[in-house]
Amino acid sequence: MTLSDLSVDALNDLHADATAAYADLRSQGLKLDLTRGKPAPAQLDQSNALLCLPGEGDYRAADGTDCRNYGGGQGLPEIREIFAELLNVPVAQLVAGDNASLGVMHDSLVFCLLKGTVDSAGPWVRDPVTFLCPVPGYDRHFALCEQYGITMEPVEFGSNGPDLDTIRRRAAEDPSVRGIWVVPTYANPTGVVYTEDVTRDLLSMPTAAPDFRIFWDNAYAVHHLTDDERPALDVLGMAADAGQPNRVFAFASTSKITFAGAGVSFFASSPDNVAWYLKHLIKRTIGPDKVNHLRHARHLGSADGVRELMRRQRAIIAPKFEQVETILESRLGGRGVATWTRPEGGYFISLDVPDGTASRVVALAKDAGIAMTGAGAAFPYGKDPRDRNIRIAPTFPSPDDVATAIEGLCTCVLLAAAEQQLGRATA
Ligand SMILES: Cc1ncc(COP(=O)(O)O)c(C=O)c1O
Repeated sequence: MTLSDLSVDALNDLHADATAAYADLRSQGLKLDLTRGKPAPAQLDQSNALLCLPGEGDYRAADGTDCRNYGGGQGLPEIREIFAELLNVPVAQLVAGDNASLGVMHDSLVFCLLKGTVDSAGPWVRDPVTFLCPVPGYDRHFALCEQYGITMEPVEFGSNGPDLDTIRRRAAEDPSVRGIWVVPTYANPTGVVYTEDVTRDLLSMPTAAPDFRIFWDNAYAVHHLTDDERPALDVLGMAADAGQPNRVFAFASTSKITFAGAGVSFFASSPDNVAWYLKHLIKRTIGPDKVNHLRHARHLGSADGVRELMRRQRAIIAPKFEQVETILESRLGGRGVATWTRPEGGYFISLDVPDGTASRVVALAKDAGIAMTGAGAAFPYGKDPRDRNIRIAPTFPSPDDVATAIEGLCTCVLLAAAEQQLGRATA
């Protein structure tokens, strides 16, 4: 039976129970944080060998490069070889950078805005710029757009990807539509994996802007939570086949493979786009941190080395995802108060509560000492038009803390839903 089937008396009982459960929750004086998708210390420990690598005297790359010195703008070949295989891109079209792919996305966007792309008539800033933003999505993508005055248009998600009809229509009719954010594998926060068909459509659709770009953020390319370790699509080859070789800027990093704060970032694209990116990048840096590239290459060894490391990461975090699923199902299942995603990889679970209650749930949780990502954070301008989406990031806290936090969150969801339903029933 769902909440909307209950009589006013039954709703009053439910509300009284939820209020008592919430008072009990608050009295526990919790201090838990599920705000950001950070690796847990046990995950970081898997790469502690990095702290002693490459080791005294070991500073030469395979080609003899002295990694301590300036230069080598495209990054060390040995780290690029490992990730070219994992990301399914040609080594020659892959750039390895410093930590944080977000920085690479930022720079790519700023280069487009101030300089224009290889297909642009001039800098993007000369005209209005619009990005299509599948929602819910990654808040920091949206923050980048907001920072630089790019208009964001939300596009709803289905189970295979975003609403293609809307994307095709807007891209075809409006030359201000210059880009779209795509997290193709285990999207943040929905866990959606873009199929080959959806990808092909995005790559081949006609666009009014000749310099339309897909910001293909493959942050979770190797972050599987099941045995189904899907290989990355050959997106650059598919783009070339579609006659749009320059349409994709692909990004990735080892932030959630090795160290989130000291990993290696990647940029991959067509030969022309890579030359364009490096031309602008060289003005900003005389070369990336090649010592970090070298120690990563030594630590990871090969693409298989990365796959094995990711299986160890999975063993640490998959039980936390299962725990969240079990608690959500037992506390909220069948009550008509929530739906949630069951991701097969990545870092997040996306929870939808009754329309109009997400902010209330997050506020209740905060008052009870459970910090969740702000309601609306996964939407452009921080505004969830239905006020229903909450992002759960279960990787960082200990398993016990995850369980306590999700139990508490369920109490808040039930209280907010009971308040709303009772308000409606007695209005
Ligand atoms: C989709 C997505 N892209 C990028 C990042 C950040 O990556 P990096 O640490 O390489 O900047 C995150 C982190 O949560 C993410 O979820």
